[in-house]
Amino acid sequence: MSMNQPKRYLITAALPYANGQKHIGHLAGAYLPADIYVRYLKSQKRDVVFVCGSDEHGTAIPIQATKEGTTARAIIDKYHPLMEQNFKDLGIAFDIYHRTSDPLHHETAQEFFTKLNDNGDLEIKESEQYYDEEAKTFLADRYIKGTCPNCSFDSAYGDQCERCGKSLSPDELINPVSTLSGKTPVKKLTKHWYLPLDRHETFLRDWILKEHANDWRATVLGQCKSWIDGGLQPRAVTRDLDWGVKVPLTDAAGKVLYVWFDAPIGYISATKQWAINTGNDWKPYWEDKDTKLVHFIGKDNIVFHCIIFPVMLKLHGNILPDNVPANEFMNLEGDKMSTSRNWKLDMQDYINDFINKENGGSQMADVLRYYLTQIAPETKDSEFMWKGFQDANNSELVSIFGNFVNRTFVLMHKLCGGKVPAFHKEIADELDQSTIADIKNTVEKITGLLEEYKFREALFEVINLARTGNQYMQKKEPWIVAKSLTENPDAQKNIDNCLHICLQLTANLAILINPFLPFTAKKMCHMMKVVDKILDWENAGSMKLLSAGYTLRPPELLFRKIEDSEIMEQVEKLNAASIKKESNEESVVNSELKAITVKPEITFDDFAKIDLKVGTIVSAEKVEKADKLLKLQVDLGFETRTIVSGIALHFKPEDIVGKQVTVVTNLAPRKMRGIESNGMILMAEDAKGSLHFINPEEKINPGSGVS
Ligand code: 2FM
Ligand code: ZN
Repeated sequence: MSMNQPKRYLITAALPYANGQKHIGHLAGAYLPADIYVRYLKSQKRDVVFVCGSDEHGTAIPIQATKEGTTARAIIDKYHPLMEQNFKDLGIAFDIYHRTSDPLHHETAQEFFTKLNDNGDLEIKESEQYYDEEAKTFLADRYIKGTCPNCSFDSAYGDQCERCGKSLSPDELINPVSTLSGKTPVKKLTKHWYLPLDRHETFLRDWILKEHANDWRATVLGQCKSWIDGGLQPRAVTRDLDWGVKVPLTDAAGKVLYVWFDAPIGYISATKQWAINTGNDWKPYWEDKDTKLVHFIGKDNIVFHCIIFPVMLKLHGNILPDNVPANEFMNLEGDKMSTSRNWKLDMQDYINDFINKENGGSQMADVLRYYLTQIAPETKDSEFMWKGFQDANNSELVSIFGNFVNRTFVLMHKLCGGKVPAFHKEIADELDQSTIADIKNTVEKITGLLEEYKFREALFEVINLARTGNQYMQKKEPWIVAKSLTENPDAQKNIDNCLHICLQLTANLAILINPFLPFTAKKMCHMMKVVDKILDWENAGSMKLLSAGYTLRPPELLFRKIEDSEIMEQVEKLNAASIKKESNEESVVNSELKAITVKPEITFDDFAKIDLKVGTIVSAEKVEKADKLLKLQVDLGFETRTIVSGIALHFKPEDIVGKQVTVVTNLAPRKMRGIESNGMILMAEDAKGSLHFINPEEKINPGSGVS
């Protein structure tokens, strides 16, 4: 490993769109593994720059602006600092968190485009693109929606299906609709610049499928192979839009660079900004073959980082990534994490609920880092379960790691006068020797795993070493030995040896846990009264980290227990947020377009399929453990039905009994909180979010048809 160690490292984590809160799936996908890797490299004193920043272009930004009734600029200025702070709170330590709206980035991206264009590496083509005649604009990427040809999701974007993750082009959408006007778009001729990927097939095949056949993840290689085998096509790198980096050509008015052309160049502009801030030279990081470039991303970004950006880098004369350890997806409580369905845990919410609360603090940032790494989706999709989170904390961090460190400190204070005891070699036994050997072997194992981006396994080994420490102490029983101090002349020496080893092991654990749980490692340094320098990786495996006779501080609890009630509250919150959307189904599907779209045209026959009737609410009661739901009995004239409705935050049960409502009576039954709901009540929502019944002006017979 050290023989051909790179001279320097440039580590990137995907630039998140500055269009909203980011959830823990994003954190687990790219930022956390990147941070662990960087902390490990830095503890080896290697030359590393870790860059990230906000992706502030693309249609996602102006769409969010419309949704929030503000400007694109206001959106990025709102979310950029928020995301930056979230990362800090969770211990993600970028060397720079830049932003693509920065003029330095615009210049860098334009220079990049110009060089490729001047060298003849781009193609210019006229083609027919979707155009919204009402909004008088071309419909790039997320300005167009339709049915996904892959999974039939009816709200797939023009660039990607949010449900199945497939990369799409607007032409592939079935029944495309403009998200600006809700109208079916027409085709119109326009000119664009294309990156002819087809010219680079041989290079990509050789570089990815041969050169990296053994060191890239199988999932990454698999995706690359299917892209290449599927036939590489020229990719448009410009768009008809007014938000983004302007195409630096006089004959390209009204055109900007495609967000996926400019965003990865953001890694370069971030490096430039870092160099300006620190008085370094950025060029070797992108031009010198001795640099190891590694991109940390989620699986939906593979094609951009493994195929498109490398072609751009090659053409521009830059180095290529050495690895792209993309993660698969992390699900949440049995379902795919999704912003539009509100099935997620935002970093901000975790920070509010666990870190900023009185009994939280940075140790809770480490708990999240621990669980997310333990279930990292490195080889396949994984599952975040609140129960699993609690178990990881209570049964591993508290009971194994925290317990070992705490016992060691307590016993050292009690049986060794608060000082590191000496090690008496002459009486060391086999168990002492094998424990020391275990420490050294584990360090080697973990080092190898980290070099191969196997963070999950590496963390397992750290905890296993703490487990070994507990077993060692359990076998040695220094508290029992202490009872024979008067009759056994070796008793104190035995106690000393045990606690000496346990203390050296504690110091080793601090070094090994540091990349994963940096706040914990820092706290351990405080307890051991040592400076952070002890955490240098070269110290790992040493049994001389704490000198005999050195006084240590009293122990502090590294982790606290997580109560059932805390977990239940989170599960409840998750269900409530998503049920709110379910109960108002129309806004689920197109929730992002709420304020701006009219739904596509339907036929009279489509409408006639819906059976609407007037009903009278005859009883209403709260649904247990669901603060948004009411269970209603609704008289429809011919029968009385149970309907569960998400209106509990708006109406008291006693106030609505006797009210008339409009009911969709032939909606398929669905279970909510174990109660079968047989229909849906129509509600109107005003601008303030208050709900209003849709009912006849005067009371009429229940069961009367509505048409
Ligand atoms: O998928 C995303 O969130 C993109 N904004 C990632 C960009 S990564 C890089 F290329 F900038
Ligand atoms: Zn799909």
